[in-house]
This record gives sequence, C-alpha cells and structure tokens, in this order.
Amino acid sequence: MQIRFQTPTLDGPGAIVVGIGEGNVLAGLAERADKLAGGAIRRALSVSRFSGKAGQILELVAPAGLKASRILLAGLGKPEKFDAPAAERLAAKVVGRLFTSGEKAVTFLIEAPKDAKITGAALAARLAMGARLRSYTFNAYRTKQRDEHEPTLKTIAVGTVNPSAAERTFAPFQAVADGVSFARDLVNEPPNMLSPAEFAERAKSLSKLGVRVRVLGEKEMKKLGMGALLGVGQGSERESQLVVMQWNGAKRAEAAPVALVGKGVCFDSGGLSLKTGAGMMGMKGDMGGAAAVVGTMQALATRKARANVVGVVGLVENMPDGKAQRPDDVVKSMSGQTIEVLNTDAEGRLVLADALWYAQSQFKPKCVIDLATLTGAILVALGHEHAGLFSNDDTLAERLTQAGREEGEAVWRLPLGDAYDKVLKSKIADMKNIGGPQAGSITAAQFLQRFVDKTPWAHLDIAGVAWQDGEHKELAPSWATGWGVRSLNRVIADHYER
Ligand code: BES
Ligand code: MN
Ligand code: ZN
Repeated sequence: MQIRFQTPTLDGPGAIVVGIGEGNVLAGLAERADKLAGGAIRRALSVSRFSGKAGQILELVAPAGLKASRILLAGLGKPEKFDAPAAERLAAKVVGRLFTSGEKAVTFLIEAPKDAKITGAALAARLAMGARLRSYTFNAYRTKQRDEHEPTLKTIAVGTVNPSAAERTFAPFQAVADGVSFARDLVNEPPNMLSPAEFAERAKSLSKLGVRVRVLGEKEMKKLGMGALLGVGQGSERESQLVVMQWNGAKRAEAAPVALVGKGVCFDSGGLSLKTGAGMMGMKGDMGGAAAVVGTMQALATRKARANVVGVVGLVENMPDGKAQRPDDVVKSMSGQTIEVLNTDAEGRLVLADALWYAQSQFKPKCVIDLATLTGAILVALGHEHAGLFSNDDTLAERLTQAGREEGEAVWRLPLGDAYDKVLKSKIADMKNIGGPQAGSITAAQFLQRFVDKTPWAHLDIAGVAWQDGEHKELAPSWATGWGVRSLNRVIADHYER
C-alpha cells in the first residue's frame, strides 16, 4: 500500500472522493466534478437517500466527462463535528468500500467544511491514517480464495494544498500505524504458532530499531522470585518468558523512564479452573496488552521519540495438566507478598503482579501504565465502547483519557477504594486472587494496586476493546484492533518528550 500527498486535481485516474456537507450542499471540488460530469452528481443525489450525513457514501461508477473510474461522494456530517477521528473514519469507510472491489487507486479530495475542527495538513494526515489503518490484512493462513481477500487497492493519494507539510505531519502517524499493525499481527496469530518464546522472538525484532531487548526465561525469573507469574505457566509445555524492552530517546539517557507493562497470556484455557468451550474461544488474544506494549515500543523507536520508555511484558500460557497450578495453591510473588490462588482463571493479575513489581524495582519509573485483557466483567460494565481505566493518580488518568479521545481509543475511569480491597483477604495468605461476585474489574484492579509502590500508576482493562467481531470495524478490519498503541504513543508524545 502506497500513500502519497499531492495538490488536489480532478483529472487523476482511479476513484476520486469528494465531500458533501449535510443537506447535500455541493461546493468546491464536488461542484466542479459535477460540472465536468455533466450534472451526474446532482442527478445521483436526487435519486438517492444520501443526505451528506457522516458515514454515508454514494458511489458513481464510470462517470462520463472525467478520467476517474468512479466518483465517491462522502458525507461530511455536521461541520462542527468534523474533527480528526471523523476524518479518519471517513477515509476508512471509503477504503473499506474500495479495498477488494477491483479498484486500484483512490484520490481523496476532501475539503474541510467551514467551522470544521480540522483542516489543511492535519486533515490530510488524518485521512491518510484512517486509510492506512483500514488497509490492514491478515491472510497468512488462507490457501483458498486468496484472491477475493487480497486487496486490489494499491495506491492512496490525498489531495492537499501543501503536500510537504502533510508529509511531515504524517511521518510519525506512519510509525504509529506500523506499531498498530504489529500489535494486530500478534493478537491475530493463532496460539499454536505464537508461544511465549515465539512472542519474545518477535519482540526481539525491535533491536534493529535501537531498542534494547532482553528476554528472561524461567530460570532467571525463579531467581528473581517471580512465583506468581511462574505458577501460571507451570501447567504449560512451553516456557514462560519476560521480555524487557528499553528505548532511551531522551536527552538525558539516565532520566527516569515511563514504564509500560503488558499482560501476555498467549492462550488462556483457564487452567484447572477450566473455561467452557465458548468461553475459551478468542483466548489467543489474551496477550493483547503485551501486544500493545510491543507495538508502542516499535512506534516510539521508529519515530525516534525523545523519551525514555521501558516496556515489560509477562508471557505465559495458562494450561491444565499434571503439573498445573491448583486452586488452593499459595504462591510467593517477587514483592514478597503471598497469594492464595483460588481460581486459576484469574491468572492475568498473577502475571502482572510480578511484571509490575519488576518494572518498578528495576527502573524506578516516573509512572507505570499497564494494559491487560483482565476481566470479563469489564465487558459487562463498558461493552466494546470504552476500556476501563483505574489509577492512583488524577493527572495520569486525565492524560490517558484525553489521549484516548484524540486517538479514537475511548477510556472510562472506574473507582478504586479500600472497601473493594477488603474482599481480597485470604484465610491463610496475604491475599487471594479473586474477589466476590461483584465489581470484578475493580477488585482485579485492587489486586494489581497491591503490587504498586508509590509510583503514579494506571491500569487499562482492555478485555472489551482488544478484539471485536462485527460492527466496530471502521478502522480495524481484522479481529484484532491493536488497541492501546495510539493512546500510549500519544501520552508519551504530549507529556514525556523533551
Ligand atoms: N482473560 C480473561 C478475561 C477475559 C474474558 C478477556 C473475556 C476477554 C474476554 C481473564 O484471565 C479471566 O479469565 N478472568 C476471569 C476472572 C475471574 C475468574 C475472577 C473472568 O473475567 O471471568
Ligand atoms: Mn483467565
Ligand atoms: Zn486471561
């Protein structure tokens, strides 16, 4: 897929896309295209229910009077609602329509309506970003019908009055889009192919970008006392891994880093507290938090972010067998605290307990942000629309909320408090790994907080947003969304660089 910026013209080949404001107001390039096409646009509008609303597309194929193979009319919606995410969604919708249609090229000729929230180079870059994210494919395992899944659309041009300004704005976006694709690849990959060791191998590819990557195996983790993480992996034939990625882009190489920590359960069967058949489906994606951390590290290194960032991902496979951890086992975490494991399916928090502790004790970070497909309960609370946010720090929480708004990764903050923490009391150990039947996402977050010292910390429960079927496919055509890469990159760009 090739993306380029150029000054707007109506005489290119391939498909051209013009914007139509709500109420079908024809102006600018849309108006000129209509003239060239002998009034075909006005006639098409008059016989259609298209009304210029955001998300609407009307396609005219093989118009006379123009070289273009098609004209796509794209609804711009209300001018005051035409912002960066709206521009991305528009481009994604168009690409979705054309991607495997037989069309080879598309040129966006979208002019911001008066009072729009986004114009110029920023608009052009966001259109390109939406197109790029929607162009993702994962066809590695198809041997049949490959053709109908293979994209025909190969080039995307975005018309803009200052192409070089748009190119400059887009360069870091491109790095982020590549990070999102990397994260999606990891989440889409089937679990027979992506073991903890294979995941670690793929993370090692970051070293060619200047990221320092270290992989700890079970022996090293045992030495560090990571009994919580190791207990989860103990029923698997495959070795657990801890991957530590360091990007030192700040002026002062020794400045305290931002720490990103990810849950990397490559497959979650539930362990001896085995999931049902239906409940187990999709559990190859239980490493979505770790994937987001790796994708973000790639984005930061590619765009040479001027920040120190460390990524730590705990990689395990949660399986039942003769060596598996039992419900009732007590394990000792790296922090020294003991945990009574009453449900082996509440494994993510056990992995994070040690990964969080390692990140803090090893790197003394400015702040730590963890991402985890942690609880089914977050789907009950927030569905697929928001990730759950928990934090001991209002500033950090606000930063993540704002970044999510701008990057189309909405989060919703939920409370923490002593009353929720109490339910983790164990009869024989320092805590148990499950709470009661209520507020499951909050009690999981309370558990994590027991492994956070005084460091500003935020936890994102991404169980509802890391993958999706069906409707939420605007920017993420595949099952995996790559959720988190964009927000994390944004928070670092806006608050921790320079
Ligand atoms: N990986 C799951 C959470 C999950 C569920 C993610 C559905 C995506 C979709 C996690 O390890 C888990 O099994 N959590 C349990 C916790 C319970 C045993 C306290 C859950 O949510 O049921
Ligand atoms: Mn589980
Ligand atoms: Zn899990």
